[in-house]
Amino acid sequence: MSSYKIQKFAVIGAGNMGSGIAQKIATEGMPCVLVDLDDEKVERGLNIIRDLLAQGVERKVFRPQQVEQILANLHGTSDWSELADVDLVIEAVFEDLEVKRSVFQRLSEHCKDTAILATNTSSFYVRDLVKSVTHPERLLGLHYFFHPAKNRLVEVIGHEGTSKEAYAAAWAAQEAIGKTPIWSADAPGFVVNRYFVPWVNEGVRLLGEGVANIATIEWAAKKAFGVGMGPFELMNVTGVPISKHAATTLGHTLGAFYAPGQALLDFCETGERFWNLEGDVDESLYHAIADRMLGVTFYVACQLVDEGVASIEDTDIGARVGLRWPAGPFEMLNKIGVERAQLLAEAIVSAHGLKMPALLKNAPSHGIPIELVSYQHHQDYAEIRFNRPAAMNALDKTVFLQLDGKLQLARATGKPIVLRGNGKAFVAGADIKFFVDSLNSDNYASIEEFALHGQKLYISMHGAEQATVARVHGLALGGGAELALAADWVVASPKAMLGFPETGIGIFPGLGGTQRLPRRIGYPLAKYLLYTGQMVPAKMALGIGLIDAVASFDSLDACCLEWAQKESASAGEAPASCPVPELQSIWNFFDQYTVDEILSGEADCLGDANLEKAVKKMRQKSYHALKLCETLFTEGEHLELEHALLLEAKSLSAAFLHPDALEGLSALLEGRRPSFQQPAFA
Ligand SMILES: NC(=O)c1ccc[n+]([C@@H]2O[C@H](COP(=O)([O-])OP(=O)(O)OC[C@H]3O[C@@H](n4cnc5c(N)ncnc54)[C@H](O)[C@@H]3O)[C@@H](O)[C@H]2O)c1
Repeated sequence: MSSYKIQKFAVIGAGNMGSGIAQKIATEGMPCVLVDLDDEKVERGLNIIRDLLAQGVERKVFRPQQVEQILANLHGTSDWSELADVDLVIEAVFEDLEVKRSVFQRLSEHCKDTAILATNTSSFYVRDLVKSVTHPERLLGLHYFFHPAKNRLVEVIGHEGTSKEAYAAAWAAQEAIGKTPIWSADAPGFVVNRYFVPWVNEGVRLLGEGVANIATIEWAAKKAFGVGMGPFELMNVTGVPISKHAATTLGHTLGAFYAPGQALLDFCETGERFWNLEGDVDESLYHAIADRMLGVTFYVACQLVDEGVASIEDTDIGARVGLRWPAGPFEMLNKIGVERAQLLAEAIVSAHGLKMPALLKNAPSHGIPIELVSYQHHQDYAEIRFNRPAAMNALDKTVFLQLDGKLQLARATGKPIVLRGNGKAFVAGADIKFFVDSLNSDNYASIEEFALHGQKLYISMHGAEQATVARVHGLALGGGAELALAADWVVASPKAMLGFPETGIGIFPGLGGTQRLPRRIGYPLAKYLLYTGQMVPAKMALGIGLIDAVASFDSLDACCLEWAQKESASAGEAPASCPVPELQSIWNFFDQYTVDEILSGEADCLGDANLEKAVKKMRQKSYHALKLCETLFTEGEHLELEHALLLEAKSLSAAFLHPDALEGLSALLEGRRPSFQQPAFA
């Protein structure tokens, strides 16, 4: 467990990347010192941030008070003595090794002994900087993506001597500032640029070889990868010289295949800034282009995994989160089929005199396994991680199947189990598309099968010999909040949010939510949360007993372990009184009135604004779903938990086979308000 406390950040270099990184840190509520060569450059960096935040206010992303708070978290300076108390420094100066080395020497002089020092280099190794620091164990890479205030991806790169503790602390700090970290070896281009640069370069080669014009290559690339911009438009946006530089650097270390295509070198000679994207599209050339670009992507992705640069999963996460591709290289590979992917990669391999990566050569014909749920064995605990950050770790059949397998592995260790999510969310519910597809194809049976499997898994988590702890660092919604409730203990970060939005999409929480929640926080508050979908921030969740502890990011893992040592509490009697005074009127109201009394207006809100708000929210929910929840509360209350859960499972069909379910779930997918069947009196 990490002994590092990361509460204050610094960013060196207030340019494009540095200002954006500092903006993100400050936006997430953490103090950050922004340093540049002189006060004028610092001010220029701060002005970039001010302008972006002002645009955010115009677009209603931020309120003016929020912007004031964000700016108050930032402190710009050119005085390095102000770095004495920072815990994590991110260097984002010019991409020049000597400049970076001198920056790290200065950081070693000015920062305290426990400060973690990170470089945002794109093209050097982290190990190139080892000799410039006094504590190499605290040196690592944090490679962000443009624009770093918006793009969530960060590659976390240790060199050989980086300590596990420093690495874990830097990783947790990325979660604290809302980033999605992936692991990368200290290798050329790290993970994403390793396949993205050749992807762009292949577009250039296709042009150079006269296979197609730019407009056709753009069209085919966008169609094949489901992306918004093809390689040439992307070069126009990021700067053509940057693409040349990136390919040149990779080419130097990895060989001619990665070196910039001649058409790119020629273009840079012309002094022009933008590729001309205009032209006629020749659709007959689709396969000639798509096959090459897919082949390159499959080859490089498999090769980098073979070399141990990244995992299959992180390679895909990099594409989805960092490049916003709708699917990662391995997901695409499996969709196209291993046999065809092998053929496409083989064409690239033979054209460039490369070797077929073993991963692809030996891939099982049904596809390369992708771990949506991963497992890691630590000294004191077994960790199970939901690893679909681009889908907010949504639960589906495959996730449950894999969770089942990982739980078995974890139990075999005899150690406590910590459940965690990768990215912004712990687990943000079930996969809505799966529900909608199943309902549209009259396949309710598959929903039932999914829910019953989930219930079985959740039941197995509580009261086992080794404790299960849910480490809720972000959003826990629906099935994710129910997963947390099924664990023995729930430990959350101050940023965690829990909620049960199901009645708003025409269903009820069917993975134990209607039964475990009231037993934990009392029936009146459980009704309030399920009927209104009200989200509960960590502090309030602790107050009402929904979770067991709140710990900051730098002590979250330690806190999980502490709770894991405790004997699990049995699901006993629901609390009989309201634990927090500010919810007393809510408690009384939901204790006293039925759904019909509330919706018909018979229940008196006594002018209480909170109650009126709650009633207003209830009116937007599915009446059918509210009534099902109410029945489950009433009938489940007097049953043993085990029987109550069975009752809940049996009622699932009544929810899913009602038209409100398809309407609510489809509306969520389509991003519109649902239109539910409402009773005449409401
Ligand atoms: N631009 C991208 O898309 C991108 C993406 C990932 C990583 N990176 C990496 O981030 C780093 C910064 O890139 P950028 O695009 O923000 O560059 P930039 O030129 O916009 O900014 C660099 C800043 O560093 C400052 N600086 C230079 N030397 C300094 C020193 N000794 N002390 C303090 N400040 C100093 C400069 O004044 C400038 O403000 C580079 O290493 C780059 O490879 C860039």
